[in-house]
Amino acid sequence: MTTPTTTTTTTPATTTTTAEMTSHLPAVGARPTVTPGTTPGVAAGGRPAALELRNVVKEYPGHPPVRALDDVSVRIDHGELVAVVGPSGSGKSTLLNVMGTLDRPTSGVVSIDGADTSTLSDRRVAGVRARRIGFVFQQFFLLPGMTALDNVANGLLYQGVPPRDRRERSVVALQRVGLGHRLRHDSNHLSGGERQRVAIARALVHEPAFVLADEPTGNLDSKSTAAVMDLIGGLHDEGTTIVVITHDTAIAASLPRQVAVFDGRIESDSALEGATS
Ligand SMILES: Nc1ncnc2c1ncn2[C@@H]1O[C@H](COP(=O)(O)OP(=O)(O)OP(=O)(O)O)[C@@H](O)[C@H]1O
Ligand SMILES: [Mg+2]
Repeated sequence: MTTPTTTTTTTPATTTTTAEMTSHLPAVGARPTVTPGTTPGVAAGGRPAALELRNVVKEYPGHPPVRALDDVSVRIDHGELVAVVGPSGSGKSTLLNVMGTLDRPTSGVVSIDGADTSTLSDRRVAGVRARRIGFVFQQFFLLPGMTALDNVANGLLYQGVPPRDRRERSVVALQRVGLGHRLRHDSNHLSGGERQRVAIARALVHEPAFVLADEPTGNLDSKSTAAVMDLIGGLHDEGTTIVVITHDTAIAASLPRQVAVFDGRIESDSALEGATS
């Protein structure tokens, strides 16, 4: 699979403010414990964060350079389901790419399960990414002309999993996303919602520490959007850690935590509201 290092979405800018976004949030029971000032990537209770960014800056070269992320610090614990929201160009995809080690930050620290990825070689980082992170993109990035099963099995290709195990695990992953009846379907012949579910199965097949989804419902109609969000909610219930970038304010509001990005900075984080420091 070819994984892009940047996304070129054409989603229009939203005019919804963070205040509007968060004003109608549902009451949330299980918010994460936030402990500012602790050792990077290590929770007070000892369990490392699934993912932690500390003072991350990302600049793209140019004249002048673009500071797409400006001193971003955020911690995501195991089992969380987090919405990342913000207007077009605010840095959401850049944030996801840096979280997912597709792109290195210009400065700052990205820790996965407590391990500082800046100290690792590109090869080691690629290994961490392959084993620990699942990606879902708006454009699906399925291989045309291949079956749903082969598309998912492809997600295990570079991990030394024997072919037979690859297929067995892929069948289980496709059943998990409700596509057990579409194993042999050519991905070209699947609906948009089904394609995205195949992409989610591919993201899950290696049992990653967390899943990063960039506008996973951006190309879907409302029915398929609801099905994919139901699936994401179900995966969260099973304990999967998931970060979802979305322009859809209703989707964001339905998730347990909202992180709002504006001009490369974290404008608000519902997990920090009311936290004691
Ligand atoms: N490879 C790149 N080179 C230079 N500038 C870039 C690059 N990728 C993104 N940018 C710039 O960085 C800023 C953040 O871009 P990013 O794609 O992260 O925004 P976004 O919030 O995901 O937007 P959208 O909602 O439209 O997808 C934008 O100003 C964009 O033009
Ligand atoms: Mg984007």
